[in-house]
Amino acid sequence: MLTQQPTTTASLLTRFRAVRSATMSFCQPLTPEDLMVQSCPEASPVKWHLAHTSWFFETFILSEFLTAYEPFNPEFRWLFNSYYKSLGEMPEKKLRASFSRPPLDQILAYRCYVDAAIERLLEQTPDEEALRRIALGLEHEQQHLELIATDIKHALFTNPLHPAYIASAASPTSQENIAPPLDWVSFTPGLPSHPGIVDIGITPDPASLETFAFDNETPRHPVYIAPFQLGSRLTTCAEYLAFIDEGGYTRPEFWLSEGWDTMRSEGWQAPLYWHPDTATKSGWSVYTLHGFRSLDELSETPVCHLSFFEADAFARWAGHRLPTEFEWEFVAAQQPIAGNMLESEHLHPTVASNTGDNPPQVQQLFGDVWEWTQSPYTGYPGYKPLPGALGEYNGKFMSSQVVLRGGSCVTPQTHIRATYRNFFSPGTRWQFSGLRLARDGAS
Ligand SMILES: [Fe+2]
Repeated sequence: MLTQQPTTTASLLTRFRAVRSATMSFCQPLTPEDLMVQSCPEASPVKWHLAHTSWFFETFILSEFLTAYEPFNPEFRWLFNSYYKSLGEMPEKKLRASFSRPPLDQILAYRCYVDAAIERLLEQTPDEEALRRIALGLEHEQQHLELIATDIKHALFTNPLHPAYIASAASPTSQENIAPPLDWVSFTPGLPSHPGIVDIGITPDPASLETFAFDNETPRHPVYIAPFQLGSRLTTCAEYLAFIDEGGYTRPEFWLSEGWDTMRSEGWQAPLYWHPDTATKSGWSVYTLHGFRSLDELSETPVCHLSFFEADAFARWAGHRLPTEFEWEFVAAQQPIAGNMLESEHLHPTVASNTGDNPPQVQQLFGDVWEWTQSPYTGYPGYKPLPGALGEYNGKFMSSQVVLRGGSCVTPQTHIRATYRNFFSPGTRWQFSGLRLARDGAS
């Protein structure tokens, strides 16, 4: 056990308060009834998220590290378990909308109870592992804050009245904003002595508690990346509409076999939240967290709520491809972590900037939309899951999933980094997921 520096504990407490209150702030516009809705298999009710994030702190930190800690309610240990099978049984995910009991005031009291206990723990100079777990709990809370945003978007869209999450917020874009033309930026990774060889991922310093990374980002290791070009910005709605208008959803030559079958069986004809609307020039309206907007108004914004299959089909139609996760990280590691994220309060992707850079630069790497890559989600060489039940956090999902990079417009800014690997099944559309094009060779 290392001796704790007071600054580490103090900064963690500050971060704990900020992250926990950010979750509650986001829920402010929602009614108690909104908090109960579970409108698709991927989503959970907001009320469940509020309880489960507290469960995480109680189960993995307070029960193990706070002397004489008494659980708020012993039933919650299994009731709000999500998928940690080594902890025992849990309710089926699809039943979460039936949790009208415990009532909301108990869930809110549970959050306060856990908050107070974490503060007591931090006052007691906890050991290093407790601090690491609190840091993990905060990253977990931020992941669930993003899920609250995407789950409530789906819930409100499913409501026949299609209410907005916030009706009065600023529009995601203005009609005067035009995205710059797509440029290609060339990269030749590696050194002349080792062309193409670069290090990817992160090996955190075991003596430092300041740098957080999930186990799936580790260890740092060399990979080979051939010369490549990356699109200077994200693909826009206007570009995606051209794919639709050229029969993209009816031409099997662009689709992976599983993608074609999924698209046909699900009846997809456009991204999730696009709705035919003859009153608009484009023929579509798009549901946003601000309510429906004409696609005419959003045409220059990055396209979002695409499955991997749709992103991949678009790239083939365009004559290019999706980047690998290593190409993406190689470029992102050279850039500051800045962009349209949750704190900007747009709650929707925004138009790329006309920077006038010559030569062109890559922009929109962080925020706006999670970028589908072509990389399967697997462990890096030497990957080791966390010990114990926490080993179920990431590692057990390393089959049949695809990596996304960069965060979205509802990702908290302090949550994202160049090495961060998100992952979803290739048919997933309810996240803010879009794409950036790539192609082989450097010019
Ligand atoms: Fe969770």
